[in-house]
Amino acid sequence: MSHISRLAIYDWVVPAVDDRILKYAIIGSGMMGLEHIRNLIEIPNTQIVGVCDPHTPSLEQARRALNRVEGVRYFTDFRDLLTNTLADVVVIATPNNTHVEIATEVMRAGKHLLIEKPLCTSVTDCQTLISLQTSHGLANQVVWVGLEYRYMAPTARVLLEIEKGTIGSVKMISIREHQYPFLEKVNDWNRFNINTGGTLVEKCCHFFDLMCLIAKSRPVSVMASGSQDVNHLDEKYDGNIPDILDNAYVIVNFENGVRGLLDLCMFAEASKNEQEISIVGDKGKIEAMISESVVRVGKRKDGYGSYQEVPIEIDQNIVKGYHHGASYTEHMQFQSAVRDGREADVGLQDGLWSVAIGQAAHISIDEMRLVHVSEVML
Ligand SMILES: NC(=O)c1ccc[n+]([C@@H]2O[C@H](COP(=O)([O-])OP(=O)(O)OC[C@H]3O[C@@H](n4cnc5c(N)ncnc54)[C@H](O)[C@@H]3O)[C@@H](O)[C@H]2O)c1
Repeated sequence: MSHISRLAIYDWVVPAVDDRILKYAIIGSGMMGLEHIRNLIEIPNTQIVGVCDPHTPSLEQARRALNRVEGVRYFTDFRDLLTNTLADVVVIATPNNTHVEIATEVMRAGKHLLIEKPLCTSVTDCQTLISLQTSHGLANQVVWVGLEYRYMAPTARVLLEIEKGTIGSVKMISIREHQYPFLEKVNDWNRFNINTGGTLVEKCCHFFDLMCLIAKSRPVSVMASGSQDVNHLDEKYDGNIPDILDNAYVIVNFENGVRGLLDLCMFAEASKNEQEISIVGDKGKIEAMISESVVRVGKRKDGYGSYQEVPIEIDQNIVKGYHHGASYTEHMQFQSAVRDGREADVGLQDGLWSVAIGQAAHISIDEMRLVHVSEVML
């Protein structure tokens, strides 16, 4: 399991640009693929050589975004792209249920890989990729999971303060995401659990990853309550009503005693902050208000009610697309791992744990019981 070891990763410092050119291929050029393209265009010594998407409007939007870039080839089948481009790096930004098949081929082709979250829709599929990485001697490949909330500026500041010991030994991690309903996606893939892995895998893997990173421990059990109460109930696709839950509470117990709580609501767009993170240690408390870009730090030794509010500046030069600049920083860190030949900061194992907690939470909701994470780790 990864842990907070390299402070620089969480410090809001983008690594120096390296002059070796990295060639990229993008598989899936919908919303997230386009965000990657927009960021990569801005990063020096980075060249996009291929894009693949079977959906014509998605491929066309990539063409428009790349109209000033020479030498890009376009494909509708990812295998053709892998055979016909000399990419060093592949970015997978396709629907969740396609990840395992495409990642398998990309890894076998020997490319470095940045794969969007969630790694896969199930623990079993995540384990398939981990076995491939370990059994095929693919250790020199960087395989990085796009759990980019680690790189949002306020989150990065929180991680840094925790690592510095500002709040002492972490005991409780509470994350609230109160947001708008799921957006429309190509062929409506995100309306059904079978394609996404379920909301607590698809959406909440980000937050379970943060919990694991902050707790520095393995999740052991999960209790959850949730349902689909408001959203998408009047929609039908081929006669089927979406089955994705839109609100939940999830409690996660970690091996070292740290407790995590996720409060998810996807019909709460009338909110100041989309995400609020609160972490309490034995010496104090730190909070991040992501939309406000504010971090509050309170130290118990300073007395009742005392806290300091720190506005977090986001460098506008690096904010390309959504996610408060996190995608850009993620790419810079990914590139430094590729160029320096080091391990991914967010590897397959991190992807696995974040999916495992989500999967366990869904079972907990369905069966109304506490679920041991070992039950889903086959
Ligand atoms: N990092 C984040 O915060 C974040 C945010 C949104 C989405 N995502 C993830 O990004 C991925 C894509 O989501 P999206 O929002 O861009 O969806 P989208 O529907 O906008 O785009 C997906 C694209 O993949 C294409 N596609 C489907 N099968 C393909 C295949 N076999 N080969 C090539 N292309 C294929 C589709 O035609 C579509 O254009 C998902 O895994 C999603 O969970 C991550």
